[in-house]
Amino acid sequence: MRATVIGLGYVGLVTAACLAEWGHDVIGVDGDEHRLDELEAGRMPIHEPGLEDLVSAGVSAGRLRFSAPAAQAVAAAQVVFVAVGTHDGNGGWQTATIRSALSAIVPEMADDSTLVVRSTLPPDFIRQLPWLVSAMRQEAGRRPIPVMTNPEFTREGSAVHDFLQPDRVVIGVGEDPHGRGASMLRKIYRRTNVPVLVMGATDAALTKLGANLFLATKISFANELAQLCDAYGADITHVVAGMSHDTRIGGGFLRPGIGFGGSCLPHQVTMTIRESAALGLTTPLFEAVETINHRQREVFVDRLTIAAGGLEGARIALLGLTFKPDTDDLREAPALDIARTLIDRGATVVAYDPMPAARTKAAAEVPGLIVVDRAMKALVGADAIGLVTEWPEFARLPWAAVAKAVRRPAIVDGRNALQPAMLVAAGFTYVGFGRDGRAAVAEPGAVPTTTPAQPDAAGSPVPTRSRRRTSIEAALSAHGIDRPLTPIGVETNVSGA
Ligand code: UDX
Repeated sequence: MRATVIGLGYVGLVTAACLAEWGHDVIGVDGDEHRLDELEAGRMPIHEPGLEDLVSAGVSAGRLRFSAPAAQAVAAAQVVFVAVGTHDGNGGWQTATIRSALSAIVPEMADDSTLVVRSTLPPDFIRQLPWLVSAMRQEAGRRPIPVMTNPEFTREGSAVHDFLQPDRVVIGVGEDPHGRGASMLRKIYRRTNVPVLVMGATDAALTKLGANLFLATKISFANELAQLCDAYGADITHVVAGMSHDTRIGGGFLRPGIGFGGSCLPHQVTMTIRESAALGLTTPLFEAVETINHRQREVFVDRLTIAAGGLEGARIALLGLTFKPDTDDLREAPALDIARTLIDRGATVVAYDPMPAARTKAAAEVPGLIVVDRAMKALVGADAIGLVTEWPEFARLPWAAVAKAVRRPAIVDGRNALQPAMLVAAGFTYVGFGRDGRAAVAEPGAVPTTTPAQPDAAGSPVPTRSRRRTSIEAALSAHGIDRPLTPIGVETNVSGA
């Protein structure tokens, strides 16, 4: 099949490369000439595992080409996928880019071709899409074409895998009177051998939105549950494992920590709250999901503050900057907010991420942030270490040597990615999320943000431990149970790994 993909970002480039991998004849179109030159030279504009190999295989087999002028690239295509950006940079949608892409390509598309919109767009825009396209065709004196959508469910870091081996394929029908569009898309995805669900285009848009809202809700739920685990001294890892065997619940997306970032989940939660308000709807659940997600960053900073014995003059090492491993994407990365807050509160923040592009971008976006090109450079002399992104190399660091290189062996694991027992054996004070019951002190107001560390009897600085009783402690005590929670930074004996 001759396919053209408009927009070569995280979604479009993966779509183009995977279609070429399936043997289709693909032209990738992008308005950014530099990006096209880089692709022609075999250099990837983004980091996505497996993508470079697919692109170079497609290019050398002659099945994948790149082009700037959209009009020419769509004229001979049987199917045109549109995967242009839709964010307004302020948590909302913008449809200007897709409108302008459509007005460039729709009049040029062949009468027997099919338009497939893959970008994530407001359901309202998707509802109007068939009329918009039909008006453009009429104006150009061309026959109507099928208008389809095909939402993507591909995660950054495993997008190639998710495209080639999806859980399901969703096909949205905007306008397809003879079923040509649906049968073309069914043919393309036949080899995936997974359920292909054909539904109205608005249903498909809500399916995409619903999936991401549910995933975001699961993460915020896990973060709320982790708070209870911290307060009662339970281990969330065991709790989630116990819950996950219930097939109604499942185990995915229940990892607590600093919360979700990236281009999809935060944007779609915020956008849904805003658009719903404009429709006169209330969304208390999604508002709570967002509030909890932002609270997690504050909790992380509070825990780091306690671990470092105050932030003023402290040196904090951040491990990881990207919103998740195996990407170089910093969009809505919690690391940026966290670094800004730490710097505002008087800390020197030294960060390391394995992705050079992410390091450069983060340094440009966060004034005062120091980035280094090796983990050890960030760790030497640190008053506390904060793990932000669970890159596998962090689990493999020589932690016993790190304990000797830091000023205070204290680590706050924002992704529950490290082995507490191993770190404690190496001499660290370890704090995760919902793992050991000792992090509950990080209540707002209980944190010494500016108090310098006080020396102990041996002259070593120890954390200032001003803290309030947590509400859980108060509730336990009201039931006659007196089990004070131990502040972090005091014990180094953690049970369960
Ligand atoms: C998401 C959706 O998963 C994908 O289907 C959609 O099409 C695009 O958006 P992506 O944003 O690439 O994918 O990453 P995802 O794996 O969903 O992770 C999003 C964020 O949630 C990351 O910051 C991750 O660290 C965080 N997360 C994920 C958690 O905090 N806990 C979890 O249990 C899972």
